[in-house]
Amino acid sequence: MKIAVLPGDGIGKDVTAEAVKALKAVLGNAQPYEMQEAPIGGAGYEAAGDPLPPATLELARKSDAILLGGAGVPEDEHRPPSAGAGIGLLRLRKALGLFANFRPVFMFPELVGASTLKPEVVEGLDMLILRELNGDLYFGEPRGVTTEPSGERVGINTMRYTASEVERIAHVAFRAASRRRGKLCSVDKANVLETMQLWREVMVEVGRAYPDVELSHLYVDAASMALVRNPRQFDVMVAGNVFGDILSDAAAMLTGSIGMLPSASLGADRKGLYEPVHGTAPDIAGRDIANPLAAILSAAMLLRHSFEREADAARMERAVRSVLQAGYRTADIMQPAMRAVGTVEMGELVTEAIHRLDH
Ligand code: IPM
Ligand code: MG
Repeated sequence: MKIAVLPGDGIGKDVTAEAVKALKAVLGNAQPYEMQEAPIGGAGYEAAGDPLPPATLELARKSDAILLGGAGVPEDEHRPPSAGAGIGLLRLRKALGLFANFRPVFMFPELVGASTLKPEVVEGLDMLILRELNGDLYFGEPRGVTTEPSGERVGINTMRYTASEVERIAHVAFRAASRRRGKLCSVDKANVLETMQLWREVMVEVGRAYPDVELSHLYVDAASMALVRNPRQFDVMVAGNVFGDILSDAAAMLTGSIGMLPSASLGADRKGLYEPVHGTAPDIAGRDIANPLAAILSAAMLLRHSFEREADAARMERAVRSVLQAGYRTADIMQPAMRAVGTVEMGELVTEAIHRLDH
């Protein structure tokens, strides 16, 4: 088991350290494993002048799974996009062909009161946002800022999807829905964008092979409204790169804190990249404040998807749950009468719980 650990920037470093501890606790001596660390994002830029240093990409290529913290630094604001920390992450996803981004949105019963939405709206919420990761405005050409003969500057990005790109994410989405509650909502903007008309057509075509799944469609604006109005109507929601990026942040907040949500980016084989959905929050980085649970839950997804270690993954998840049940909270999910802890203490509590739950 070769695991590349890429903490990245900001709180990515804080939370990844805790996720690594939890991983080591759950793996124990049962299975030989190798963990190797490398810089990405702003850290990559500092270390090697590249948000995705060649050595980091090489390590990721030869690993079975990648555990990532986050990529993004305040300096991004005055760096060219090509040197931006987030671009390192985008290039990594693309280079490894990780096109299917699983962002489960799950309401822990203990945290119902921490959501900004009413308990009766979010209680029991359990949905999956599936985001396409290798196409769309993020990668379409032409792109850039040019100057017209008139002297006017123009910014251009291109929304582009090939039918096969839509097809492969559609299959992943239908399979995920048939393993869950059999409902798939595809998000597009087919009323305005040709690319999204193609998206919808392909979804419908692929859907014919999955008669057990009920397919519906929503325009992205309506989808964002439905997400905050009645999120429990959703089982699996599939969207392109840009819409999926936006909707998954919104959906994350339904659960009280984006600090709770893990994600997995998968390709054609078992290799995957696992990262918390939250960003790098430079304002609280290195201050022992960030919530490490999303990173720890991402490590659980890593064990489940890349190594088929379901029992270990479940043990990590039960450990997280038991720490919440015991009343421990980081600042982002703090509620009255609960016990406030920092990043490191939260990580230690989960690690202890993993040992306690051992067999
Ligand atoms: C995410 C992030 C990234 C994205 C950024 C950091 C490039 O927002 O993973 O959702 O847009 O994909
Ligand atoms: Mg995002």
